[in-house]
Amino acid sequence: MLKGRHLIEVNDFNLQELDEILTFAEKIVENPAKYAELGKGKLMATLFYEPSTRTKFSFESAMMRLGGQVIGFSDPKASSTSKGESLADTTQTIACYSDLIVMRHPKEGAPKWASKYSDVPIVNAGDGGHQHPTQTLTDLLTIRSLKGRLNKLTVGICGDLKFGRTTHSLVKTLSRYEDINFVFISPEELKIPKYIKDGLSKDAYKETDSLDGIMPELDILYMTRIQKERFFNEEDYLRLKGYYILDNEKMELAKSDMIVMHPLPRVNEIATEVDKDPRAVYFAQAKYGMYVRMALIAKLLGLEE
Ligand code: CP
Repeated sequence: MLKGRHLIEVNDFNLQELDEILTFAEKIVENPAKYAELGKGKLMATLFYEPSTRTKFSFESAMMRLGGQVIGFSDPKASSTSKGESLADTTQTIACYSDLIVMRHPKEGAPKWASKYSDVPIVNAGDGGHQHPTQTLTDLLTIRSLKGRLNKLTVGICGDLKFGRTTHSLVKTLSRYEDINFVFISPEELKIPKYIKDGLSKDAYKETDSLDGIMPELDILYMTRIQKERFFNEEDYLRLKGYYILDNEKMELAKSDMIVMHPLPRVNEIATEVDKDPRAVYFAQAKYGMYVRMALIAKLLGLEE
């Protein structure tokens, strides 16, 4: 039963519950118009303490496409946070006005903390370098729709694996499915944290810094951005930001049915020439994000299909 639950990390939901959301999302993809009034009379609040394009707009369009309404802020300076109001008080207040709160915050654990003060579901829309569960739902729907399965896959994850919350969420979740082999592709300084690897069996992953060398093995290449905002000094960022650039030449090394995913935004890690390659699915992925968020909102609000 998903009604009334918080979503702080994907592992808050069991595989059956994830399947329930994905299956409903697939029905919405097939016939969105059927669900255009499902959320009528419901109100969602988006509290974004950190910038966003996809997560904020896909949540908002998801709610509107369900016939619901949206309030919120994308700049906490325009709220009473700027007067010193605590996260707990802001949350308790917004929970009085809305049926669901979607929160992005630069501090790890902030949405979990907020959930203690909310009578309505809180959805973590990304907390610092920790987790991004609805990006993972997006990724799961994309993989299931385009590869036809969530098992028996070799998944290369490339870029900033140290600070990348999307990759942390994805690895923790995909590792719950059968026969998933990960290849973590990163420079030494941006290796995936030990606590993520500790959750995997030793033969379920390997690490490399060579993208070219591993390309032919991959069913999925999940590219990520080197995140300027997570670095403590600009020099390190500038040194690492061009470390991996996926271009058409590298794509020639890949399987004909490999897909390239990216949570976006990108900076320079995928050359725009790759966008025309049918294996580049990152904009389709962004669209799946809206559909899966429609399904999630409906499930958390207990809206009947
Ligand atoms: N993928 C993602 O979280 O994008 P935004 O930061 O634009 O929301």
